[in-house]
Order: sequence, then C-alpha cells, then structure tokens
Amino acid sequence: MIKYLGSKRTLVPRIVALAAAVREHAGARTVADLFTGTTRVAQALKREGFDVTANDLASYSEVLAACYIEADGGDATLRARVTEQLAVLNAVEGRDGYVTRMFCEEARYFQPFNGRRIDAIRDAIDTIGADRLERAVLLTALLLAADRVDSTTGLQMAYLKAWAPRSYRPLELRMPELIAGTGRSRREDANALAAAMEPVDLAYIDPPYNQHSYFSNYHVWETIVRHDAPPAYGVARKREDCRTTKSRFNVRAQAWEAFTGLMRTLPARHVIVSFNNEGYFAYDDITALLASTHGEVAVVPVAFRRYVGAKIGIHNPSGVKVGTVSHLTNREFLFVAGPGAAAIVEAAGPRGAASAAALAAPPGAR
Ligand SMILES: C[S@@+](CC[C@H](N)C(=O)[O-])C[C@H]1O[C@@H](n2cnc3c(N)ncnc32)[C@H](O)[C@@H]1O
Repeated sequence: MIKYLGSKRTLVPRIVALAAAVREHAGARTVADLFTGTTRVAQALKREGFDVTANDLASYSEVLAACYIEADGGDATLRARVTEQLAVLNAVEGRDGYVTRMFCEEARYFQPFNGRRIDAIRDAIDTIGADRLERAVLLTALLLAADRVDSTTGLQMAYLKAWAPRSYRPLELRMPELIAGTGRSRREDANALAAAMEPVDLAYIDPPYNQHSYFSNYHVWETIVRHDAPPAYGVARKREDCRTTKSRFNVRAQAWEAFTGLMRTLPARHVIVSFNNEGYFAYDDITALLASTHGEVAVVPVAFRRYVGAKIGIHNPSGVKVGTVSHLTNREFLFVAGPGAAAIVEAAGPRGAASAAALAAPPGAR
C-alpha cells in the first residue's frame, strides 16, 4: 500500500472492531469515510461487509477509491480485461515526457529510466480502451508501481540526496488486490458532501490536523493521475496550483469552524473521529462538540508516544539547542459518538479498546 502521511494502517483493526460493534449495537450497514486518503480504512470496512462510500479532495484518492471501493473484485470480466491491459502496459517502451523532465531531471523522485516508463504507460492508459473502473484499476497499479521505485521518504516535498536502493528496480505494474462487492467513490469537499449526501449509519472522520497540505505533499500522484503537465516551482517541482489549493482543515483560523460545520450537518447517527494532540483541535472541545451533535461520546486512546521533538529538542540552523518543545507526548484517540457509544466501545473488546500503554498515559490532551 502506498506511503502516506497520517495513514491509519496501524489503527485499522481498532476502527473495524468499533464499526462492527456499531453494527451489532445499532444495526449499522452503511458507512462513509469522508477523508479517505489511501482508502485503507474504507477497504477494511468493505471487507467487513459494510456498504462503503469513500471520499477525498484528491484526484489520486478518488482513483484509489474507484479501484478498491467502487470496483467489484468478484467481477471476472473486469479482472480478465485488466489482466490483459496490464500485460500490454508492462510491455510499453519508455519515452521522454513531463514526468521524466520534471520529476527525474529537474527533481529526482524517480530514476529517468523509470520516469520514461511512467510517461509512456500514463499515455497508454488513456488510449488502451479502458472503461472508467478499468482505468481506475490501471492508474492505481501505476501509482503503486511508482511508489515502489521512488526515491523519497514518503512525502513529495523533497527527494533523497542519493538515489534510494529501490529506485534502481525497474517499474512493474501488478494487479491491485481488488475487493469483492461494490461501493462508491467521491471527490468532494467533505462539508459540501455532508450537506448533500444520503444519510449513512456511520461516518469515519480523519481530517488533516495541521498546516501540512496533502495536495502539496502528494503533488506527484496528483499530476500522474490528472496527466495535465502544469507549470511547476521550487526544488520539489510542485504544481503551480499547490500555492492556491488549500483545505480549510489546513488553516488554523478556519479548521475548527469547518469541523463544527461538518459535525452539525453530517447525516450519520454514529461517528468515529480520529484525533491527534499535535493538531489544531483541543480534546475537550471535540468531546463537547460531539456531545452536542451526537449525544453520547466514548473515547478510545490508541497511541501514546514520547514526542520525537522532545527527544531531539529545538535547534537553530547552526545546530545549537534553543527554546523548549511545547508538549512532551504525542497521543492519538478515537472518539466514538452516538447512541450507546460507551456500550459500543465496551463491546468492541480488546481490538477496539485502548492498549495498556495508552491507558497508562496521563490524561489531558494538549
Ligand atoms: C489524515 S489524511 C486521511 C488518511 C486516511 N484515513 C488513510 O488512512 O489513508 C486526511 C485526508 O483528507 C483529505 N482532505 C483534506 N481536506 C479535505 C476536505 N475539505 N474534504 C475532503 N477531503 C479532504 C486529504 O486529501 C487527505 O487525504
């Protein structure tokens, strides 16, 4: 699965256990993951048998959602056609294009021989005769293949000084692990979608929690999917529209209003909200808001780490230690809100409940 900041890889079993408990307790069947990113959580919920809608602002995320959530992995015709298309694409000769110039020569995210393959395969995906879902599966295969041979630490704000060992491997498309069943993919602002969507039984809410923009951090994926060759700036060769494409959740002065608006309009009886104490929101404010919008609230502490900055300290550009860090721990929680929230957390058992280490952490959030 693709490298992604804030991906809930390690939390997935907890979230699924909580969702299953909402199903047992309240008969939940439909779920919306409104900030789906990699779609990891949405995928796990689909596997668990929920009817899933996966939404995100990013084009790459919409493609992942169409592939993993919307497409039916049990559809033998789809699988057979994509298998043939992947074989054709894997045999395509590389050619110089935007990715090679921008991301291999002006920047160094991929080795040029792989950049040329990405350029040629991306062109061919649009001419191979794929329908919308086949195209989403092919684009997902290309993103995953590119991710396996990139030369970054997982963010596209910068690339490694020396080529990463994996970047020497030739890019190879593989069939993504499709999931049986169907769902829906959307690309909308979460607040706009919440105001217009059909009611769902449960929503999972995992917005960005600080100023770091996903659009900028993953601009290479966005450009590969859009295939639009935009003007670029800076050492990282980011798309020009990274300067103007901002989520309200990335702006301190707007994030709380966006979150309260979302929770007030969201047509979901139960919600699970991810929260990290290094973000803009305060623990007590979230608890109070969810109590006002959804009634009962229960909190599951899921991670407790010593804040890495506390160990390292704050240093000036000459390496001299200056100032003090504002907090010593990084804590993550899942808030469950809606009728019977405490009983739901209880019923989720050890997979849904807190780890011993998290429970031992001191209370308080900021
Ligand atoms: C913390 S990440 C979600 C990670 C995801 N749960 C996972 O496991 O991969 C936040 C996501 O919110 C998306 N996003 C930011 N602002 C948004 C908005 N206003 N509406 C919908 N999605 C948004 C970003 O593109 C990003 O993928």
